[in-house]
Amino acid sequence: MTLRVVKEVAAFRAACDEARTRGVLGLVPTMGALHAGHLALVQRARELSQTVALTLFVNPTQFGPGEDLARYPRDLEGDLARCREAGVSLVFAPEVSEVYPAGERTRVRVSELTEGLCGASRPVHFEGVATVVTKLFAAAGPCVAVFGRKDYQQLKVVERLARDLLLPVTVVGLATVREADGLALSSRNAYLSAQERAAARGVPLGLSAAAAAFQAGERQAEALLRLARQPIEAAGLALQYAELTDADQLTPLTGAVPERALLAVAAHAGRTRLIDNLVLGEDPAPIAEAAPASASQGSPSGAVR
Ligand code: PAJ
Repeated sequence: MTLRVVKEVAAFRAACDEARTRGVLGLVPTMGALHAGHLALVQRARELSQTVALTLFVNPTQFGPGEDLARYPRDLEGDLARCREAGVSLVFAPEVSEVYPAGERTRVRVSELTEGLCGASRPVHFEGVATVVTKLFAAAGPCVAVFGRKDYQQLKVVERLARDLLLPVTVVGLATVREADGLALSSRNAYLSAQERAAARGVPLGLSAAAAAFQAGERQAEALLRLARQPIEAAGLALQYAELTDADQLTPLTGAVPERALLAVAAHAGRTRLIDNLVLGEDPAPIAEAAPASASQGSPSGAVR
């Protein structure tokens, strides 16, 4: 299969129109530095469509001042090779000026869903995400768009904006792809030193400890959060938040949690921000064998895969 790479909106739109004459168009928006998580989205898009288009664009408006826009990993040639191998037919890799035309004045803001969790510490982030995703949907036209649950809040924001703006896009969410030791794949993992990478395992350990307790019947938010925090802090990571929220509205939960609830965490390993989540009552624990006791004490069995 040949891969077509376009840099202009007009060419992307024409290629998407042409693809739709052959069936459903699948869309996978990314910022590049593609890894197996992105490729799982491509795989799902292939199952749901006849043609897969992937977008490669490091969107400046979703980075706050002092965040990692300048050092965000970029690897166009490697990404194109991975796209070819994964069966992507069309790549849209625009310049910033193509996506944000001179004199641009428009932003898309989704209220409430963007205020808590990552939105609390990244005030412009979701406005940037909502704006660029709306632009990509507008350029692509009717399609099935696949997003990862790794960025659960982002997925909820994108689902909401597609409905609210009456966009002809079906949004599909895909389970988080993880390393063998449970760490969620992320382009930002490339920043981690060996020591930070080892510490990063505290994040899936924390989620797993809470998931195991939930599975065993624990329903008190504070107890579940304590279990989630403990391995993250014990690993030497700087916890930014660990929260339980309603899985759809993302409103905070206290006291007794329902049968389905989002547990989301963010922590820093050095300068690198790690996020992860799971929906209790829905998603499997990232590390199946991490019971609370082994998570907090580091059992001799190691609880490692
Ligand atoms: P990026 O971080 O490149 O992620 C692109 C897509 O890959 C997102 O839908 C994200 O949730 C998904 N993804 C990342 N890691 C994953 C993993 N380990 N398992 C499953 N899916 C994973 O998210 C963005 O880019 C941007 O905000 C974007 C939506 C492209 C807008 O700029």
